[in-house]
Amino acid sequence: MNANEIRKKYLDFQVSKGHKVISPAPLVLENDPTTLFTGSGMQPLLRYLLGEKHPDGTRLTDSQPCLRLQDIEDVGDPRHTTVFEMLGNWSLGDYFKEEQIRNYFEFLTKIIGLDPEKIFVTCFIGSEKYGIPRDDEAAQIWQSVFKEAGIEAKIVELDTAENGDKRGINSGERIFFYNDKENWWSRGGGIETTPVGDPCGPDSEVFYDFGEDKQDVEKYGKSHPASDGARFMEIGNQVFMQYRRNEDGSFSELKHKNVDFGGGLERLAAASMGSFDVFQISLMRPIIEKLEKLSNKSYENNTDEMRIIADHLRGAYLLSAQGLAPSNKAQGYALRRLIRRAILKALDLGIAQDFLRETISPIEKEYETLPDSILTNRDRALETLEKEERAFRRTLTKGLRELKKLADKNEFLSGRDLFTLQDTYGFPFEISVEEAFRQGIKLSKNYQAEFEAALEEQRNRSKTASKGMFKGGLADHGEMTTKYHTATHLLLAALQKHFDPSVSQKGSNITPERIRFDFNLDHKMTPEEIKTVENQVNSWISDDLPVVFDEYEKNYAKDVLKAHGQFWEKYPEKLKVYTIGDFKNPISREVCGGPHVEHTGVLGKFKIKKEESSSAGVRRIKAVLE
Ligand code: ALA
Repeated sequence: MNANEIRKKYLDFQVSKGHKVISPAPLVLENDPTTLFTGSGMQPLLRYLLGEKHPDGTRLTDSQPCLRLQDIEDVGDPRHTTVFEMLGNWSLGDYFKEEQIRNYFEFLTKIIGLDPEKIFVTCFIGSEKYGIPRDDEAAQIWQSVFKEAGIEAKIVELDTAENGDKRGINSGERIFFYNDKENWWSRGGGIETTPVGDPCGPDSEVFYDFGEDKQDVEKYGKSHPASDGARFMEIGNQVFMQYRRNEDGSFSELKHKNVDFGGGLERLAAASMGSFDVFQISLMRPIIEKLEKLSNKSYENNTDEMRIIADHLRGAYLLSAQGLAPSNKAQGYALRRLIRRAILKALDLGIAQDFLRETISPIEKEYETLPDSILTNRDRALETLEKEERAFRRTLTKGLRELKKLADKNEFLSGRDLFTLQDTYGFPFEISVEEAFRQGIKLSKNYQAEFEAALEEQRNRSKTASKGMFKGGLADHGEMTTKYHTATHLLLAALQKHFDPSVSQKGSNITPERIRFDFNLDHKMTPEEIKTVENQVNSWISDDLPVVFDEYEKNYAKDVLKAHGQFWEKYPEKLKVYTIGDFKNPISREVCGGPHVEHTGVLGKFKIKKEESSSAGVRRIKAVLE
């Protein structure tokens, strides 16, 4: 059965079990500051998993395109991809473990015809620390489901319950307990890193066994379901989403117990054809064949490059077909990175001409089944990608020419030369290094350190330049005010970090010359405290953190995003939230109309000039950027 057939069979099957098919969400997330892209089927349903009523009822299903950039370095092996489709079904306070496990087993064995002997499963071992019991319930349901299929399935508690366990599998063993690293699901990963406010719970994962001969004992030890290696592949995860994380770190039971099931379509398709390599399935094979033809090389001898290109171009197509354009910011930058990485890998295969149009045409065809409501820009997608391809190729050509010129003039190239190539011609450092090795161009011994030193000097130069501008009165007032707005957010975050998260803004006044900022604190700040807060702000400035904003519903901003705000009652229903730093673990998140700078590195040096009393329990800081 090919991937398109499996997708259809799955949705039909879920409908036969009372589910409504809902439209998948776009890949590019507009309103979720925790991540740039939809990375799982549950993400767009967060509100409903937390208890809000869904208009389509309590049983939902879909096939959600997902992008997980965090897996980008793993692409190249037989099964990791950044982009994939997640088949999903949800019970919103409706059925629970028994029905989910039975249904999924039925789907795997009866509908797509997998051999039950090849199915292995895992369950959560429990957490003493958080008072969460071992999931014997799920394990026992599995045992009876296997029994009905004529299989005596032994339940195993692994000695270490660690992924690194190398004991392998003894005869009859089929149901394995693991700890929270494997069998606890939250958007933040394991139990300790579950985000506050998020729904979460123990999960039960399903694995397909490709056979003992696929295990690489030397590299990974003997395989067991969750270990690395090619023998077992995860083909579904059933999350029993019954908890929510509290502010104090503990977990409380949700009123409604949900099921959140997700299974990778590409992996299911691979299991159904008995291939441990997902790049052999119908959604991938045509791309690989194009690459073989264009490069005149075989997949077998060039698996890594071809897998990376196939994966990245699927991602790039889906993103641009949704209307995203390459840029140097957030999502647009991710798209740019996918395209450029694919082009560079193609160069490694000897494909030096434009190849996106030809390689993407089978992808376009495979995705004809996705609704227009998701791929709103499909007609212009190729054009966008080709434009970026041409621009990047011009950069590469020019860069290569300059590299050659430099190499002809010098006995060897220094890190400073490579810096110039990057700074002036946009020719990336990594490519210079690779090209140098390829062409036998000598590099100086310390080229890496020299490159970094040049980079650092440039950073300092731009800081001095902005300082000079300000002193000379050249900087426009608007620009300084913008900088002070951002510095104010950093200041509040530093105060909260140093004193207490409950420190909040009691007033602020910004002019092009300084910040005046009032906040609650019960004592005069000591010189040490002032220094610490100042240093903290300056360290975030030198980290050059991204500053991004988006518009949200008020309640969402307050309860889910936990944005800092002063006047919740007075705010309109829709408001802007600015986030500084990492999306998942931001340094600062505040309701604010802006404007702000785009990254903190441009702020210069932050200095607290004065700390004084403003009124009872309220302190006032005056600070400047130098
Ligand atoms: N949300 C679950 C996952 O991503 C199903 O694995």
